[in-house]
Amino acid sequence: MQLFLDTTDTAVLKDLAATGLVDGVTTNPTLIAKSGRNMLEVIAEICAIVEGPVSAEVASMETSGMLAEGRKLAAIAPNIVVKVPLTRDGLVAVREFYAEGIQTNVTLCFSAAQALLAAKAGASYISPFIGRLDDHGAVGMDLITEIRAIYDNYEGFDTEILAASIRTPGHVAQAAMAGCDCATIPPDVFNALFKHPLTERGLSQFMADWKGTGQSIL
Ligand code: G3P
Repeated sequence: MQLFLDTTDTAVLKDLAATGLVDGVTTNPTLIAKSGRNMLEVIAEICAIVEGPVSAEVASMETSGMLAEGRKLAAIAPNIVVKVPLTRDGLVAVREFYAEGIQTNVTLCFSAAQALLAAKAGASYISPFIGRLDDHGAVGMDLITEIRAIYDNYEGFDTEILAASIRTPGHVAQAAMAGCDCATIPPDVFNALFKHPLTERGLSQFMADWKGTGQSIL
């Protein structure tokens, strides 16, 4: 499963990219606003930090505007993926981007029916928002399972499932168990993936016992 970072914080991105475990980045208008930076500049910087897919979202709500913005975003770097909302206008734009060879990430997906349309439109990635469904009392992971079942039924559906709106390390593990192709993870959750209290407790005991031997490996 590919692990993406859901962030526009380039300092944090550089730090985690140095682990070699970060396969790409996703952004959205809220993350751009939080950065306080020019969108085109921060996206270009992110594309220079990671070689993998970098999602940059259009702001227009109608197809012609999405196409103009998406073409401009795609020209920033070869690893740009144009992020498009799951709307009728968005999917019409996705079909055109597909014809032009521009990668797309269809975002704000909350139903299997929406994901079916995104695959038919030729989306490169679909982003079902797990956490926001959970926030509203649904079981977001059920949507992942439904989309996986639909996509596996049809050979022509090449859209990759990109689990989004991730809230916990459990979401990441569950997304992997459900067969997601990718997950986009906030940096604090990504850092939490490394940690478990029993690992820390066990390591402390190992180190104490090793120290007691008085030995050195080198
Ligand atoms: O960027 C897409 C998605 O991961 C954002 O989800 O719910 O954390 O805003 P959320």
